[in-house]
Amino acid sequence: TRKTRRTTGRHGAAALGLACVMVVFTAAPGSAGSGGPPAAPDPYFPLAGNQGYDVDHYDLDLDFTPATDLLVARAAIKAEARRDLTRFTLDFSGPAVERVVVDGRSAAFSRDGQELTIVPAGKIRAGRDFTVTVWYRGTAAPIDDPALGVYGWINTDDGAVALNEPDGARSWYPVNDDVRDKATYTFRITAPAGLTALANGEPQGKPRTVGDRTTAVWSMRKPMSSYLSMVAIGRFTVTDGRVGRLPNITAYDPAGDGDDAALHRTTADAVRWGQERIGRYPFDSTGGIIDRIDVGYALETQARPVYDGEPDEATIVHEIAHQWYGNSVTPKTWADLWLNEGFATYAEWLWQEERGGPTAQSVFDQLWATPANDDFWHLKTADPGRDELFNYNAVYLRGAMALHALRTTIGDRDFFTLLKVWADKYRYDNADTRDLMNLARAISHDNVKPLFDAWLYTAAKPATPQG
Ligand code: ARG
Ligand code: ZN
Repeated sequence: TRKTRRTTGRHGAAALGLACVMVVFTAAPGSAGSGGPPAAPDPYFPLAGNQGYDVDHYDLDLDFTPATDLLVARAAIKAEARRDLTRFTLDFSGPAVERVVVDGRSAAFSRDGQELTIVPAGKIRAGRDFTVTVWYRGTAAPIDDPALGVYGWINTDDGAVALNEPDGARSWYPVNDDVRDKATYTFRITAPAGLTALANGEPQGKPRTVGDRTTAVWSMRKPMSSYLSMVAIGRFTVTDGRVGRLPNITAYDPAGDGDDAALHRTTADAVRWGQERIGRYPFDSTGGIIDRIDVGYALETQARPVYDGEPDEATIVHEIAHQWYGNSVTPKTWADLWLNEGFATYAEWLWQEERGGPTAQSVFDQLWATPANDDFWHLKTADPGRDELFNYNAVYLRGAMALHALRTTIGDRDFFTLLKVWADKYRYDNADTRDLMNLARAISHDNVKPLFDAWLYTAAKPATPQG
């Protein structure tokens, strides 16, 4: 909910003191090295990702038993080598690996921290497609990071849910955990009959029950960053509807409060609003899942966000806005997360402005009144530091304020054009703050650099509202 995201913000604020001891830039060299030229890992998550290959598709076969939290899984990953590979790494901190096969031949493997190193029987030549299949079994556990909270694979009372942002995918499947390596996904989820399994995207036929276990298959056919992959297993009541021609599949845990009628309706309204204001909806379905988890945030998991309780309208608008801003147009590095959160927060402001609520200008004015010596201003919006990734003030609110400052500088007409062209030009792609600045300049013919410098690259209150 909105409140829970504020909680995330406060959580972030509590950790502010840690920012100055951040050492990630000098941390261990990137994992990717094995088998090729130096990689360019993300400065905030230097151990994640491997630039030696590019994943096309993840085929995840997950068999889960809530009574014991046992996960028995097989991940088949189809990738293309970008250079000759005699060995390569995947990010994986999940349960015990039993076997690895590369292109039909057994491969040697070893584990060290979050790296699963695989040595195929023969060299994989640059440009070739290959498939690596990993069998693993045991209990998966979430990541509990002092600054970023609880995320990854979370076992619940009646099932499990996986919420990966930022680097939690490795807690439940072997992954090239790089925001830039988007791939398509198939999820085949088996659980005790009577439970429901959901994931990103669209169901492939009806779930099939054999004996006392049911298998559901879901697929995400549009490119997806690993931090947006999701499965949810448990007791769920599902509402299967449509927004225009787009399937709208929502689900809620009947043991929680309320139901998902409001979620279903508001999700449809928010998608229609985005289609008008931003443009073509980027995925083949929409929806949402209300689960009883206590993580203190909602997550915009691709095509189907997860809410940790019954969300208010602003939160739904926020997570649906992320489908364009974040999921389809994705930052190149985590330092640019404001491109997700600033846009999604600004979408909330626009939504309420259009519905007779406070105007975006009045929200901006109220925040602008924050004194220059307040902590509110003390981080850089574009590059707040790894531990302050979800800082509500610096990334969400000042991100939205930066967009509002841009709007008042280039004018409504150019600004609303920019909102559309940004989503269209970089659809399914990655983009950074500089790309946004260049696009704003191209559309408006204004020199927006001073504004970007003051609002995004400076850890201080700008001299004037327009930078
Ligand atoms: N992207 C989410 C949102 O703004 C917040 C995710 C917070 N994640 C975390 N590990 N604390 O809706
Ligand atoms: Zn968000």
